[in-house]
Amino acid sequence: MERLRLCSRVLLLALTNFLISEVHSSATFTIVNKCEFTVWPGILSNAGIAPLPTTGFALQKGETKTMAAPSSWGGRFWGRTHCSEDSAGKFSCVTGDCGSGKLECSGGGASPPATLAEFKIDGDGGKDFYDVSLVDGYNLPMLVVPQGGSGDNCTTTGCVVDMNGACPSELRVTGVGGERVACKSACEAFGKEQFCCSGAYGTPDSCKPSSYSQAFKSACPLAYSYAYDDKSSTFTCTGADYLITFCPNPSAR
Ligand SMILES: *[C@@H]1O[C@H](CO)[C@@H](O)[C@H](O)[C@H]1NC(C)=O
Repeated sequence: MERLRLCSRVLLLALTNFLISEVHSSATFTIVNKCEFTVWPGILSNAGIAPLPTTGFALQKGETKTMAAPSSWGGRFWGRTHCSEDSAGKFSCVTGDCGSGKLECSGGGASPPATLAEFKIDGDGGKDFYDVSLVDGYNLPMLVVPQGGSGDNCTTTGCVVDMNGACPSELRVTGVGGERVACKSACEAFGKEQFCCSGAYGTPDSCKPSSYSQAFKSACPLAYSYAYDDKSSTFTCTGADYLITFCPNPSAR
């Protein structure tokens, strides 16, 4: 009798779990490194959302890593480049560093400039919202390809061009050898309200694209180029998984 009760409780639990998972969609992220070099992805969950099982790791050239995000997860992925550990064991990266001093970012975000892939799974209307953003500048070409899923604009987004090569000199970030490793946003480079969409320029009506954000936009029309670039840069899917590729075009860099 006791066994039968236990058994039916287990069954009920399994059924409830199944129903819940049917209603709330989760998502699987597959991260691929097609760059000619190692990339160290970083992951930051939005405020109040639990971290994924990993928040930072190394992804060798050609390597792939898959991870599941629970329903209603929101956060961002980016790539760190030119990372190394110093003699004291402190880990740091020339671009996208998250300040943790370790491989795992553990709640640290990307230091700009860095290309970001941003997600809100199971948001308004049960839809996933996602974008690739250059608002905090650019360090790597990134592509987000939804897999499965449905919706009017459940389509590929990203920035596939080498903006490091195309970066205006006043926005350029160079590595120790003088090589171009990242491209700042105008907000980061000049700190002016009109570029940052802050202060007197803190509304969509008052903050217009600048010649700098337009250079990003014409290179990468699908990506966010400044803070109020939502209409042309936010995509939505229902029930999709996502493939995130660093250096989607192997000739990029
Ligand atoms: C995608 O659809 C959403 C509404 O679901 C809309 O707000 C957004 O502007 C659309 N994005 C693009 C790139 O057309």
